[in-house]
Amino acid sequence: MISLKNPGQIAKMRDAGKILREVEDEVREKIRPGVSTAELDILAERLIRKHGAIPSSLHYEGYPCSICASINDEVVHGIPSEKRVLREGDIVSIDCTLLLDGWQADSAFTVGVGPISDEAERLIRTTEECFWKGVRQCVIGNRLGDVGHAVEAHARANGFSAIRDFTGHGIGKEMHEDPAVFNYGEPGRGLRLRRGMTLAVEPMIAAGDWHLSVDEDGWCARTVDHSLCAHYEHTIAITEDGYPEILTLPGFNWEAEA
Ligand code: MF3
Ligand code: CO
Ligand code: CO
Repeated sequence: MISLKNPGQIAKMRDAGKILREVEDEVREKIRPGVSTAELDILAERLIRKHGAIPSSLHYEGYPCSICASINDEVVHGIPSEKRVLREGDIVSIDCTLLLDGWQADSAFTVGVGPISDEAERLIRTTEECFWKGVRQCVIGNRLGDVGHAVEAHARANGFSAIRDFTGHGIGKEMHEDPAVFNYGEPGRGLRLRRGMTLAVEPMIAAGDWHLSVDEDGWCARTVDHSLCAHYEHTIAITEDGYPEILTLPGFNWEAEA
């Protein structure tokens, strides 16, 4: 079931998104060679709680941490650990979801640890571009197939592949709501977008093939061919006219973009 949000509810999600942005920006600052992903997780949890929010991932279906930290060929759901120390040349995806006053915000980004290869730079840049290609399709009357197609086509045009086994999703009172927001699709197909839909749009893009395997911990998904993967996610709201509001990028202005 798809729940449409009224302006008051979207305002609550905007508040959650603002805090999540602050948390993730602080975590990003700490990323450097020698830092463990457990340190990033502890920092994120502390900041989330300091703002009066709750880390949504912690204990979610048994997940043990407040962020996912996925390194190199890890796609999503990397479990933070003291043993996972970031090294120069790695890329790391940080994905965090929080709950503020009953409303969720979900966002992810990938960064390099110190200098990284040209291909890794290009993968991170392309993944972010895939997000924007998809989000520009998120206007009233368009369909989810338009969004997925835009993401996948941009990945493919750059020689990369969009992950198929994980998707974006509706979001609101729950972290994961309907509909699934696929990172591939056929233009003109799928659910029609309506005002008040709030979605997590999250391209996951592999430098090689999109097939995944899941580690023995039952969580961490990685590419079978061990190619690098990047992830970029924001929570958005489909608004009355024009492009959507990016709830996890407070102050973002489409006019300034164009
Ligand atoms: N933040 C993830 C998403 O984008 C979900 C986190 S899974 C969890 O959908 F297990 F870590 F909670
Ligand atoms: Co997420
Ligand atoms: Co998400």
